[in-house]
Amino acid sequence: MRDDMNFEADYADPTQSPDFEPGDEGLSNTSANPTFYDVVETARASRRSVLFGGLAAAVTGVFGTGLSTRGALAQTTTAGGNPVAGATATAAPTPGLLGFKAVSVGMGDTVVVPEGYTVRTLGAWGTPILGDMPAFRPGANTGAEQAMQTGMHHDGMHFFPIDGSSDDGLLVVNHEYIEPRFLHAEAYKGQALDSDEVVYDGETRPDDHVLKEMNAHGVSVYRITKGADGAFAPVADAHNRRITALTEIDIAGPAKGSKLLVTKYAPNGDRTRGTINNCAYGVTPWNTYMAAEENWAGYFTSHDAENGEPKLPRELKRYGVVAGKNGRYGWEKAAGGADEYIRFDASTKGASAAEDYRNEPNQFGWMVEIDPFKPDAKPVKRTHLGRFGHEGVVFAPAVEGKPVVCYSGDDSRFEYIYKFVSKAPFQKGVTDGSILDEGTLYVARFNPDGSGEWLALAPGENGLTPEAGFADLGEILVNTRAAADLAGATKMDRPEWGAVDPNTGEVYFTLTNNTKRTEAKVDPVNPRAKNQFGQIVRWRYRDADHAQTAFTWDLFVIAGDADTSRVFTGEALGEDNIFACPDGLWFDADSRLWIQTDIGEDNMYKGDMEQMGNNQMLCADPRSGEIRRFLTGPIGQEVTGVITTPDQKTMFVGLQHPGATTSPEDYAAGKFSSSYPDGNGAIPRSVTLVITRDDGGVIGA
Ligand code: FEO
Ligand code: CA
Ligand code: CA
Repeated sequence: MRDDMNFEADYADPTQSPDFEPGDEGLSNTSANPTFYDVVETARASRRSVLFGGLAAAVTGVFGTGLSTRGALAQTTTAGGNPVAGATATAAPTPGLLGFKAVSVGMGDTVVVPEGYTVRTLGAWGTPILGDMPAFRPGANTGAEQAMQTGMHHDGMHFFPIDGSSDDGLLVVNHEYIEPRFLHAEAYKGQALDSDEVVYDGETRPDDHVLKEMNAHGVSVYRITKGADGAFAPVADAHNRRITALTEIDIAGPAKGSKLLVTKYAPNGDRTRGTINNCAYGVTPWNTYMAAEENWAGYFTSHDAENGEPKLPRELKRYGVVAGKNGRYGWEKAAGGADEYIRFDASTKGASAAEDYRNEPNQFGWMVEIDPFKPDAKPVKRTHLGRFGHEGVVFAPAVEGKPVVCYSGDDSRFEYIYKFVSKAPFQKGVTDGSILDEGTLYVARFNPDGSGEWLALAPGENGLTPEAGFADLGEILVNTRAAADLAGATKMDRPEWGAVDPNTGEVYFTLTNNTKRTEAKVDPVNPRAKNQFGQIVRWRYRDADHAQTAFTWDLFVIAGDADTSRVFTGEALGEDNIFACPDGLWFDADSRLWIQTDIGEDNMYKGDMEQMGNNQMLCADPRSGEIRRFLTGPIGQEVTGVITTPDQKTMFVGLQHPGATTSPEDYAAGKFSSSYPDGNGAIPRSVTLVITRDDGGVIGA
């Protein structure tokens, strides 16, 4: 990592800071929330003791013994005599949970899987799934054609079996963002362009380019079936659907109707158009899909100013909307000035909020529910899950008669982890998405002693009063980050995906990296300054009851190379499993933990990251701590999205942005750093891998 690195806070426009990654938002948590080290002076020991012994030492304090972190947290009683969940961790490790031979670090422009496995691909960006089924024309399809094809930059993904089948189902895939130089390759040919650059026509953008970009965002739903040759392929079907940055979407939950959601399009604050930057996902206990809205703030701009200085409300500022410049892709500059495009300029223009789009950014940053089996049903933004940079959402296993519980990370540096607990109990066959509209949103505090607590973000709780600027629940939810600041949540190293162990109920979350954390701000759960490699935290409850507000936690793995890593067992990572920047995370039914990595393209192959090679997917046994590298992807991509068929014999894995490491000069020369999956110098495309075992066995076993 660069030692001369400048903090984004030093930049009026964070996207100009040297550490900015395309698709990321700038640092926007300027709250004075203490880290543990601000309040626990005794924990300010040496960096090494925090890294490798700090948590164990802290836990020793709780348990009064010299047990290792793992041992201590696996005990069934605490010093206070209170039983804690996680007792199953004392059981002997299941032999043979990982049954494949690890693959080496990947360097080539290809996908490598273990011996005895086969990789196919489907649904690459531009695959026709709808309407006229327009064929993919590399970088040359129209905006209207893009709406009938899969989008760009595949991320979270789920396979919804039809009638329980492992050969026939609906694949639902998020399309996080776009790489304009590949999307418009025909029009942009020969120009020296960076991966996030769009080309203006003077001051404006061509309408059809903006339309195509909006239609390359969102979510694809399409049926896939297995043919006689054993390969899955998309089929035309009434369920096939594209949800884009233009699709009409309902708003539900406590923020519905809030004055902060009133726009010219939605004078009642109850609807919006589109979903953007859909990163990871969730599947509800009633079998619907939820798409997250992650790095949406940069798509907007505002020119509101006072005395020559930008003047943005906290609903925009705390989320990193930057004033006075064009939005990320300049959608608001579409030449024709159509309403659905100019709304990305949130400047005050009318006499009231119902006459302009000052509140348009408040309609983003939510979790969006989609029922893939009801192609005509409008998606719904569920506001009680909070408004932030949602990475995704993961539901605890639903228990009849108990509240529904789900978790969501806010992926930005120093942001928080949240959970929602429904008011109503789960009733199989009765419960639907409306159960998410009433309950309590909490934010996590991780204490240095290995305990933790969930802080309610509700009127009158944790300082959230009208006097403090939170008039009602709607205002709290629109300003979730500010509410969490006030409540005193723990600032994390970029929370990404979460996963719940189906056999123990333990919750795992990836904390991908945070090179902005200083020595003075490290704490036991975020134990490294200039954290470039990331870590995975996990927690559990007494009786595995996810609705409780108290939990205990430990670090499952501190990622890195052989010198800097540590699994909870005390082992370091080595040849078969060094990795950096854990992002995607998923448990299969047997409790194999699948870990996907996302080293940003600006850091890939440089310095300490060189040894990590291409982004990869690993598989871990959560009980023994064994981790093996299962897959390495092609050049410039991140591995993101993983699910299997119900029989666990076919695994779908997403690859996002192959070729993103192409330099502007090489792009101009028509040379791309990757041409996966088509090869032979073709434009690289995000794609879904379909992985099977040659002997027809369970993936990973
Ligand atoms: Fe879209 Fe946080 O990864
Ligand atoms: Ca991610
Ligand atoms: Ca990512």
